[in-house]
Amino acid sequence: MNQSESNGSEQAEAALRRLAQDCERREARKAFFGFGSEIAGKLTELAPFSNEIAEDLVEGLYKHILSFAGPAKFLSEPGLIERLRRIQKEYFLTLTGGDYEEEYFHSRLRIGLSHQYVQLPAAWYLGAYCWYACHILEKLKDRSEGIPPEFAESLEAFLRVVFLDISLAMDAYITTRDSLIEEKNIELKEALNQLDAYSKTLEKQVAERTRELECRVVELQEANRTIQDTRDELVRTERLAAIGTLAAGLAHEVRNPLNSAAIQLTLLQRQFQKAASADLGRSQDICGIIRKELDRLERLVRSFLDFARPSQISKTKTLVSEFVDGIVSLIRPMVYKNGIQLHFNDQSGKSYARLDVDKMHQAILNLVNNAIEATDDGGELSLDVSVKDSVLQVRISDTGVGIPAKELDHVFEIFHSTKAAGTGLGLPIAQRVVHMHGGTLKIESEHQVGTTCVIRLPTS
Ligand code: HEM
Repeated sequence: MNQSESNGSEQAEAALRRLAQDCERREARKAFFGFGSEIAGKLTELAPFSNEIAEDLVEGLYKHILSFAGPAKFLSEPGLIERLRRIQKEYFLTLTGGDYEEEYFHSRLRIGLSHQYVQLPAAWYLGAYCWYACHILEKLKDRSEGIPPEFAESLEAFLRVVFLDISLAMDAYITTRDSLIEEKNIELKEALNQLDAYSKTLEKQVAERTRELECRVVELQEANRTIQDTRDELVRTERLAAIGTLAAGLAHEVRNPLNSAAIQLTLLQRQFQKAASADLGRSQDICGIIRKELDRLERLVRSFLDFARPSQISKTKTLVSEFVDGIVSLIRPMVYKNGIQLHFNDQSGKSYARLDVDKMHQAILNLVNNAIEATDDGGELSLDVSVKDSVLQVRISDTGVGIPAKELDHVFEIFHSTKAAGTGLGLPIAQRVVHMHGGTLKIESEHQVGTTCVIRLPTS
């Protein structure tokens, strides 16, 4: 018996117990069956008679049951008949036991339940009762002399037909109940199917909504990142603007004494030449060093002013291939001078892009300059250009020393330079120009392997 069956049997037994306990219903039933105290008294008087015939009767009952294939197959379990004979005899004796109250009712209801469990058809069960009734009558007839045979035969005939009718009535009850249960089962199955379908739809909807939400989360994260980038950019721009204003003034002030120092140096050199002193060579060397330093200072101030001055871009429709050719003609001499091999690959075809050519030239030259400085004689520099999905991509890669990982995060910071003669402004200027075009500049590098700079610009 599985869990749900055992729960079901417990419920059935509890229901039978309640039925047996209900005194009012018990009495109502007994009254309807004409079962009063007189009948109970009469039955009790018959107890010795029952004792006398019990063995024979039970023997006869099982002989009868076993002679019919249908009911016999319910008794095929080994040892069952012996056990049932004993139980059956006890049962029979309680018919005249004198107690017809709660315990009696309960034991009868339980017997019915046991047969229901073994699924004994009601007809066999009632047939056995009929057999009892007729054989008790038989025994009574033998015992009571003077009963007219006619009377006993008529009673037996009535008993048989009444039991037959009871069995048919029970069949009608059971069949109706079964078909009702079957109908309810079908309805239940349909409801379950609908529920199943509904739950599947619900599952699908939940999955769809989850997917939508996940997409929204990704969009929001993206938007958040953009806001963060914009905020960073704003802070950067504000900081740069402040530095720019300060530094532009300073640079302007530095430039005047610088120019005047350069002029004074020229005059000094001329005077040295006129004086034709013995130390002329040495003096010229010193002057040369001072001039180189002054030039460097001048260069630094110029790039700084370029960077600091708030500038605007003026974009024009430009044939990309022409723009790139311009760059190549500028860088080719520098590359060859340094013994570097140049690979140039332009896939832009006849595409156009809106560019501030001068500023973009400057930006790319800054990147190429870095590449040349990082690459030894015999190294390689590649310039790849393409236009796809309205995006112009310029890729500059070198086989130079590369940038150590810890430096990569700082390469766009102003005045951050690892080169002795670097201004620390080349990359920030390049990045600013690219940003002004609405594009991006990414740098990937592997130390001692090389560096790749990728500029991506919208063509419109
Ligand atoms: C006058 C009619 C019958 C009476 C009074 C009767 C009485 C009983 C009683 C008292 C039990 C023991 C129930 C329990 O303690 O749970 C029982 C069990 C049983 N009866 Fe009957 N019986 C009748 C008819 C039949 C018939 C006609 C058959 C088969 C054709 C049958 C087959 C069984 C079987 C198989 C069990 C064993 C149930 C189990 O596995 O516990 N009975 N019966």
